[in-house]
Order: sequence, then structure tokens, then C-alpha cells
Amino acid sequence: MASLKILKLGGSAITDKTKPFSVRKDVVKRLAWEVSRAKPKNLIVVHGGGSFGHPLAKKYRLIEGFKAKSQLKGFAETRRMMMILNKTVVDAFVSQGVDAVSVPPLAFIRTSNGRISFIDEDVLKGLLGLGLTPILFGDVVIDDRLGFTILSGDQIVAKLAVSLKAEKIVLASDVDGVFTSNPKTNPKAKLISKLSLSKLEETVKLKSTTTESMVDVTGTMVGKLKEMIPPVNMGVKVFVVNALKRGRVFQALKGLRVKGTKLEP
Ligand code: IPE
Repeated sequence: MASLKILKLGGSAITDKTKPFSVRKDVVKRLAWEVSRAKPKNLIVVHGGGSFGHPLAKKYRLIEGFKAKSQLKGFAETRRMMMILNKTVVDAFVSQGVDAVSVPPLAFIRTSNGRISFIDEDVLKGLLGLGLTPILFGDVVIDDRLGFTILSGDQIVAKLAVSLKAEKIVLASDVDGVFTSNPKTNPKAKLISKLSLSKLEETVKLKSTTTESMVDVTGTMVGKLKEMIPPVNMGVKVFVVNALKRGRVFQALKGLRVKGTKLEP
């Protein structure tokens, strides 16, 4: 699909990760407005879990799969909270004039040992063909080896970009892009405006030895970058931008000059 764009709205941008179940409604509304102004022809939006998904997923160890009956309460509760967050996102998009449709990954994606093994792409192709904007999210899904697991929005984005031959991925989170070190803890961290794939692999190797986050069950920037290797290799344009800064998502979607990191082959 030549003009397909995939936008990931990171959980760190749309929720306040320091408070459980707190959505940044103003940010979600502005992002919906930016998307509506950019008017991309074919767009899939995937949002993360942030403080609606990760704390519960961690508490019930959902990423490890089905090990004890007590986890089922966590499965149900995580899904319930993700549906609440998803409704907030879809409501905001619809109120800004985007014909957005919720598409829960649990219902059409399966994994095998944590990796996507099946996606009913026809659902998405059908929606896009009609001119609708599917809105997916990181979800709890059925896994043929583990019983269930947590599937990150980033893995969904990368897989769809490859299989639907997307033109562009915009990863919008709460930092300006990829930095030489963690910008939240190191004031000397420098923004990398263009990151080539060879350097990306170096960065991933370097960083994967450190434990960046204790809360995110699906990994943070390093996890994102690793997932992006196949689409970048295929020639998909991948941008990492700050969703908390007004205009960045709009600029990235429109192909205008934007502050952030461009991942290159
Ligand atoms: C996680 O999705 C979903 C759940 C924990 C249920 P992501 O991994 O895509 O979420 P963020 O963007 O890191 O918050």
C-alpha cells in the first residue's frame, strides 16, 4: 500500500506513567487534531498501554504467559483498562473529524512465543479501503505456546509496515528522538537526527545490556529500535518524534522538516 502511514502513539505520551490509569486527555485531543489536519490518505494508528497497561501486565506477569489461574483476573483487568484507554483515544479522533474505528488486536492477531504468527490483514485492508482509520493498541493476545502474552504496539507497527508495505512509520513518544544516552537522566545526552541501521544495531547491542526500565514489560526505546530493523531494511521511512511537542506529529506525517530521529538503512 504505497501511501500507508503508521502512527504509534507511545503510552508514555498519551498517559502519565507516574500515576496509574491517568490519560493525558489534552495531549490525546491535540494529537487527534494534528492527525486530522495532516489528513493522511491511508493511516493506521497504534497506541501503547502506558499507565493503563504496564503496571497490571507486570503485576500479573502476563508477558510470561499462562502459569497460574490467578493471572486470569489480570488478563481480564488489563484488557478492560486497555479498552477504556482505547475508547478515550477513539473518542478524541472522532471528535476531531477522523473516522476512527477501534480494532482490538486480541480479536485478529495471534502470537507464537511472543512473536506475531497470524494477523487477519484483510480486516485492516477492508477498513483502509473504505477510507476509515483503524486504531489498534498494545494488547493481551492468545499465544499458541504461552497461552497468552503481551503484544507491544511496536511489534504490531513493524509487522504491519512490512506486510502492508507502508511508506512511513512515525513513532511518537515523550522524548525528542533517539539520544546518545538517556535524556531523562543524562543532561549531556545528544539527539541523533539520523541513525543508520549499522549504528542502530550498535546502539541496540550497547543498550540491551542495561536495564532501562523496570516498569515497561515490553521494553522502551531499545525495544522500539530493535523492532524497526526489518521495516527500515525494507525502505520504510521511520521517524521518532516527541508527541508532547505541538506540531511534531503533524510535520512528520506531512513529510515536513521535523525535529526528531530518522532511522536509515
Ligand atoms: C503495551 O503496549 C500494552 C500492554 C501493556 C497491555 P506498548 O508496549 O506498545 O505500550 P507503551 O507504548 O510502551 O506504553
